[in-house]
Amino acid sequence: MEKSLKAVQVVVTAGDGIGPEVVAAGAQVLEEVASLYDLQVTQVERPLGGGSIDKFGEPCTDEVLQDALDADAVLLGAVGGPQWDDPQARFTPEEGVLRLREGLGLYANVRPVRVHDALLGRSPLRPEVVRGTDLVIVRELTGGLYFGRPKELRTVDGEPAAVDTLLYRRSEVERIVRHGFKWASARRGRLLSVDKFNVLVTGRFWRDIATEISRQYPDIEFSTMLADAFAAALVQRPTDWDVVVTENTFGDFLSDEAGVFTGSLGMLPSASLGDGPHALYEPVHGSAPDIAGDHAANPLATILSVALMFRHSFGLSQAATAIESAVEWTLNDGFRTRDIAEEGARLVDTQSMTAAVIARIEGPSTN
Ligand SMILES: NC(=O)c1ccc[n+]([C@@H]2O[C@H](COP(=O)([O-])OP(=O)(O)OC[C@H]3O[C@@H](n4cnc5c(N)ncnc54)[C@H](O)[C@@H]3O)[C@@H](O)[C@H]2O)c1
Repeated sequence: MEKSLKAVQVVVTAGDGIGPEVVAAGAQVLEEVASLYDLQVTQVERPLGGGSIDKFGEPCTDEVLQDALDADAVLLGAVGGPQWDDPQARFTPEEGVLRLREGLGLYANVRPVRVHDALLGRSPLRPEVVRGTDLVIVRELTGGLYFGRPKELRTVDGEPAAVDTLLYRRSEVERIVRHGFKWASARRGRLLSVDKFNVLVTGRFWRDIATEISRQYPDIEFSTMLADAFAAALVQRPTDWDVVVTENTFGDFLSDEAGVFTGSLGMLPSASLGDGPHALYEPVHGSAPDIAGDHAANPLATILSVALMFRHSFGLSQAATAIESAVEWTLNDGFRTRDIAEEGARLVDTQSMTAAVIARIEGPSTN
């Protein structure tokens, strides 16, 4: 049974660049859908990223982390920009997002990739190959090659060298694989676990644990694949996959690869989840400083992230589906921001795209 809340608090961290533009769109949709579905939402705006460094000297203050811990969900825009790129600087804006994810215990990054029929022409893949693509990549977010220690420059046999460490504890693999099964159960019932079983000890370890856990989910069609083979299969047969669970680094590459199929970064939502009640929802894209202030940002990735929030944090699947259907309908009606516009398209700005989606959101069915 899904839990459904009656009153929720959402911390909204707009961030930098186009962050405030797309988050304004997400916040409007949140407000609108909450009122349609009888949910009382309090939105609390908080600084994060570059703006927070400028004002408070750090990208995520203790107060912001505490507010996020006290909230039911966090909606994040994006952080970063050239003005904070100084390599000598004490902090980077991105460290603010990392602090939030770590502080909230979020170890699963979930990226749905859905190719809309209306945008088939924007995909780099042929329409007959990519039509119907609808998959979810569940990426381990807090362990693996990006976080293992040691991670340092050193001297080996008298010459400079560098080392990173790929380390996974059993509990880390178990919990992310279980997340994969949970997503597969809620979708089409298929889970693929991706590893490098043939050359990495961690790959063998990962596969053994995933296979062992799969026996507890007899209703899920479980399979495994090598990361390199899957990278190729993903472009050849993108419609073959339902839920894919994988290590941090592989998940980073593979989700970027799959994301390209949609035609624009501006179409990709994400959720970062853990075992606790906390969750962070954000578009996959960055702060796009090149278009910040132009009112050209595509708000759909953020709006679709709000849909994920309704489904996973508030237990309101019908509201989530209403948002996703409204996005589909808006695209079918020809509305396009610049990043997804083809010749002769109905070009709109961020705000008009948001208004078009809101106008198409349906309330709860009465039967
Ligand atoms: N989680 C985050 O906050 C996050 C994630 C990725 C990058 N970043 C940061 O964002 C900054 C810019 O990074 P980048 O340029 O490599 O990546 P980016 O995603 O910001 O932009 C890449 C390209 O996609 C376009 N784009 C991105 N989102 C769009 C949208 N919603 N609508 C229309 N076009 C869109 C941009 O204009 C740009 O041409 C950097 O400082 C980077 O560190 C932050």
